[in-house]
Amino acid sequence: MARPTILITRKWPDRAQARAADSYEVRLNEDDRLITTDELVRAAQGCDALLPTVTDRLDAAAINALPASIKIIATASVGYDHIDIAAAQARGIAVTNTPDVLTEATAEIAILLMLGAARGATVAERMLRQGEWKSWSPTGMLGIEVSGKRMAILGMGRIGKSVARKARAFGMEIHYHNRRPLDPGEAEGAIFHETADSLFKVADVLSINCASTPETRGLVNADRLALLPDDAVLVNTARGDIVDDEALIAGLKTGRPAAAGLDVFNNEPNFHRGYLELGNVFLLPHLGSATLSTRTAMAERALDNLDAFFKENKPGDLVTA
Ligand code: DGY
Repeated sequence: MARPTILITRKWPDRAQARAADSYEVRLNEDDRLITTDELVRAAQGCDALLPTVTDRLDAAAINALPASIKIIATASVGYDHIDIAAAQARGIAVTNTPDVLTEATAEIAILLMLGAARGATVAERMLRQGEWKSWSPTGMLGIEVSGKRMAILGMGRIGKSVARKARAFGMEIHYHNRRPLDPGEAEGAIFHETADSLFKVADVLSINCASTPETRGLVNADRLALLPDDAVLVNTARGDIVDDEALIAGLKTGRPAAAGLDVFNNEPNFHRGYLELGNVFLLPHLGSATLSTRTAMAERALDNLDAFFKENKPGDLVTA
């Protein structure tokens, strides 16, 4: 039987691309050029599968324009909000994602954002680089200490739990809001909040770790930000559209929250430029999973899913609407 042909939309680490080429006919993007949805649809002609990622927007129109030969979309990402799952299902196209493999790397970035925002790392580093550091000062550059404070996790899934484990090393008390409480064994003492509002009220640090869904989009709005305690730090490693940018920028100007660390944005990479005018934000360009081992593992997990589909007749990490 002919080997399936896979369109891999971005350049992935060598080991993963070599593995893909061992098992499949591959169409690679060696220049790692960002392709438009139209280009993706054209490049998919004659392919059996797509291996896209978070930068590929596969809305219903794009899914419907894909050739009939496409049987599976194995996104190399844990998030799948860039794919219209219902439209894919309606066409009988399987969709898989890559859970687990990026949990630790993303939770590490959440801790970096928490500390970077709380201690004013952006302004401090800029001062140093621009030669403006004149002296150690007893009252200069005073940040917020997070040790022993309350860590509030919005979305206690894999990444949320890993953030909780890391935050415990800072002596933080863990609170969380989920659709359902975790089993006590899994919660490891974390305190469940029935509502997001209740969580916001105790959020000395608010770590956003939920998926982007119709229920969570815009959940971090002006009304909820107003519930935050004094000196709160907001951290987002999940998706930009969970946060209302205008509300967060207004809140940061009045100290609610006091600081924010953001790795993800609405409309990436064209994020709201209002953030650049603020000294109390610590910003990263969607680096949550950006380590060689994790990016390799993400592409390999997507290949595992293709193998499960084409060779093993197993579901792999199937996602459904
Ligand atoms: C994902 O996999 O959804 C992440 O956002 C990539 O870092």
